[in-house]
Amino acid sequence: MNRIKSGVPGLDDLIEGGFPESSSILVSGGPGCGKSILCMQFLYNGAKLYGEKGAYITLEEGAHNLWWNMQRFKWDLLPLEKENMLKIYKFEPSIAMKDDIEGQTKRILEKAKEMGAKRLVIDSITAFSLWLGDVTKIRLAMYYLIEELRKMDVTTILTCETSGKKDELSRFGVEEFLTDGVIMMYFFPPHRSIFVRKMRGTANDKAVHPFEISDRGIEVNSREELLWESLR
Ligand SMILES: Nc1ncnc2c1ncn2[C@@H]1O[C@H](COP(=O)(O)OP(=O)(O)O)[C@@H](O)[C@H]1O
Ligand SMILES: [Mg+2]
Repeated sequence: MNRIKSGVPGLDDLIEGGFPESSSILVSGGPGCGKSILCMQFLYNGAKLYGEKGAYITLEEGAHNLWWNMQRFKWDLLPLEKENMLKIYKFEPSIAMKDDIEGQTKRILEKAKEMGAKRLVIDSITAFSLWLGDVTKIRLAMYYLIEELRKMDVTTILTCETSGKKDELSRFGVEEFLTDGVIMMYFFPPHRSIFVRKMRGTANDKAVHPFEISDRGIEVNSREELLWESLR
């Protein structure tokens, strides 16, 4: 199986070298736990180190705001954007959206196709789902989206906004069953940690590991383990 490097030091050690190619990964956690940073790092290093094109679909923050936030890191995003290696797209909610799930998911797929993306980020699937309303629609839309991206050989991270509690895998209780992988990110001040809850086709690590955010982005300490009971 081909592995797609996460671009996050230490994380690939937990998942046999990287995400399975064409898979969909849910990255869940509370506000400020580092989801958006992890996503940008996945795309930035994907383009910079591995020459793989990436698209960032933001439904929460504006593209400008996201861009501005990422200036804190030692990542030179502008040249990659100019070379069409990394694109940020802002999706605005619309009233018509509820009745046009197919149209909305197609818009996401078109963006990925347009630039020939190998990596995709949807930040967040929670915002997308909230627009849709009920769980049946959410499940259907996510299923369709993930299947189409798989056919296109795109490896996708979908972020999920939870309250940040350690047992809360997702917002609607369905997202974690639809994706191939689930990564939980925790921030119980002052400690940040990460846990691979599921990764299809992978003998993933079973421990919770601390991570740091610095101007290099996220670095996971794969050698150090935290006790589940100690998280709070
Ligand atoms: N350069 C930095 N060094 C250390 N921590 C940072 C840096 N930049 C941002 N952070 C931390 O990252 C948090 C934001 O992470 P973000 O990925 O936007 O969270 P999420 O998307 O999960 O809400 C900030 O609240 C801050 O604590
Ligand atoms: Mg975010």
